[in-house]
Amino acid sequence: MISSAQIARRVRRLGRQISEVYADIDTPLVMVVILKGATVFAADLLRSLSIPAELEFVRASSYPTGTSSNGRLRLAHMVEGPLVSRHVLLVEDIIDSGVTVNAVAKRIRKLGASSVRLAALLDRPARRQVEVKIDFTGFVIPDRFVIGYGLDYAGLYRELPHIYSLT
Ligand code: IMP
Ligand code: MG
Repeated sequence: MISSAQIARRVRRLGRQISEVYADIDTPLVMVVILKGATVFAADLLRSLSIPAELEFVRASSYPTGTSSNGRLRLAHMVEGPLVSRHVLLVEDIIDSGVTVNAVAKRIRKLGASSVRLAALLDRPARRQVEVKIDFTGFVIPDRFVIGYGLDYAGLYRELPHIYSLT
């Protein structure tokens, strides 16, 4: 669906755009990466920035009862450093229903960040359940499940350099 060359070009442009938006902040940007799928994107995005940035990770997972569809999510790992008065860029692989990023953003805002923006490699609007404002979007994709470049199916295929739709 999307080749590694296309991804690389797009990520470089996102990095430039993000660096411009945050050019005047007086503390390093805090990239908060949502595990696990966004790690590959985040690693490339980080190296496309021309501004200082710190890295934090959060792990969101559905409640054991499998209620992610009704919007309930548990954060299995939270950021380590204080975020008070910091500028936060959430980094996610794909926004589908919007439930995951919505839950994470809510929690991050409570920690007193000066600003919270969102960078998503992929936006699949077809199945959105909650409204999400994506500040930096890589690609808008049709309603197909995708794998590769960090995105998995049952834990597999993250190592693929291109993005494929799973048929
Ligand atoms: P949402 O909470 O419905 O927006 O789902 C977003 C999360 O589900 C992301 O963090 C992904 O890890 C995962 N996800 C959603 N769609 C896909 C896909 O097509 N491939 C791989 N992971 C996906
Ligand atoms: Mg994920």
